[in-house]
Amino acid sequence: MDELSKGFRKLIVGVNTQVPLSNGGYAAAINLDNAATTPPFHSVMEAITKFVPWYSSVHRGTGYKSILSSDIYEAGRGIIKRFVHADKNKDIVIYTKNTTEAINLLAYVLAQDEDEGAVVLSTEMEHLANDLPWRDKFKVDYACTDKHGRLVVEDLELKLRKYDGKVKLVTVTGASNVTGYKNPIYEIAVLAHRYGAKILVDGAQLVPHCPVDMKDFDSSEHIDYLAFSAHKMYAPFGSGVLIGPKQTFEKIEPVYKGGGAVKLVSHHFIDWEGAPYNNEAGTPNVIGIVALVEAIKTLDRIGMNVIHEYEKKLIEYTTKALAGIPDIVMYGPSEKDEDKIGIIAFELMGIEPRLLSQVLSWEAAIAVRSGLFCAHPYVEKLLKLTDQKLRYYQKKPDIPFPGLVRISVGLYNSYREIDVLVDCLGRIAKNKKEYKQKYGKPQKTPESNQPLLYPPRRNAP
Ligand SMILES: Cc1ncc(COP(=O)(O)O)c(C=O)c1O
Repeated sequence: MDELSKGFRKLIVGVNTQVPLSNGGYAAAINLDNAATTPPFHSVMEAITKFVPWYSSVHRGTGYKSILSSDIYEAGRGIIKRFVHADKNKDIVIYTKNTTEAINLLAYVLAQDEDEGAVVLSTEMEHLANDLPWRDKFKVDYACTDKHGRLVVEDLELKLRKYDGKVKLVTVTGASNVTGYKNPIYEIAVLAHRYGAKILVDGAQLVPHCPVDMKDFDSSEHIDYLAFSAHKMYAPFGSGVLIGPKQTFEKIEPVYKGGGAVKLVSHHFIDWEGAPYNNEAGTPNVIGIVALVEAIKTLDRIGMNVIHEYEKKLIEYTTKALAGIPDIVMYGPSEKDEDKIGIIAFELMGIEPRLLSQVLSWEAAIAVRSGLFCAHPYVEKLLKLTDQKLRYYQKKPDIPFPGLVRISVGLYNSYREIDVLVDCLGRIAKNKKEYKQKYGKPQKTPESNQPLLYPPRRNAP
């Protein structure tokens, strides 16, 4: 396993970047916040460097570079489709800036259908990106989660039955960004189709960590729509995708209107382009697509199954180690062989989550996330936070807001890094008072005395 991790680390930019600690020393930054964003692959940066001498405007130019840029941009759609087994002919890839934009776009498009009283069935474990876009356009209901945070599929079916054909779309995360639980997307697809609904999988956390297969159109397990973000799969530069049947996106009123989305316009008429172009107004982000495509090639070379297995073992190792630390309460703990991605959310009783995440950074250069992780209703349910309690905390900004701490691994995280985390958490757990005294007052982020290209922030938030 360590050999595997050594090989993976070589693929990543910045794994040995030294960052300042509160004691004046330095340590290699340990990134356990991959669910938020991942560092880039070297291959991605090299692909960008190779491409930039040829970089030019997409679609509108007749110069050689413009034609080449357009070809690369268009060819990306096929590579992305192959990666998730989308249909070569019936599906289209719409380029977006991230998952949030992709889901907003789909909500806007589906809301144009004339089907009064249509219901969108979501779940209680969604990121806000797969909740808020639906709320103002449809009646939204939520399939519930159990006390561990797992989706209750029986409740989803119950609701499909209750709405008796009115559910237009079942929208579900492929994997939770809080507990890491993977949802049985194919089982859910079968249910959705049985009741006449389509399914959208929010793939932001699933696609970077597991193989995904959208399956044939005539399969009851077919995934109708899929959204994901490049920046969570080792490809920064602001791209994402929405994949779905061309038919859905053909004759619609585009959400963004402008150049590139039209065939011809006069003061009296607009002749919109066909899909996907009617959904991609403005100058496209070709660099973002070069990055995403290269990341996909690298992930494919490694093998998504290999990645999933490695990360699963690493998170099982982490779970076991955290279970040995007093006062740690994990949410959604992994039973052996439970299907989840490499995420753990936990509390260390007696020390508030935000402070704990800061201490990990100041003491051991470990980056984790704390709070509600943009999945507010889900974390609120896990923490039994009623609306009344939430209002109380809202009115008392001086009282630390409840939340969780989240560890999320990527393919390049090593067992040694987990050992550093566990060692540091163990020390904090044993000496909470001491750490709270040391760091409880507003702190200054440790300053670098080295000529960094990007100096760290001066003041702790
Ligand atoms: C499950 C899930 N869905 C959607 C998103 C939104 O992704 P983005 O910020 O790239 O739009 C995230 C981001 O963390 C996520 O974890």
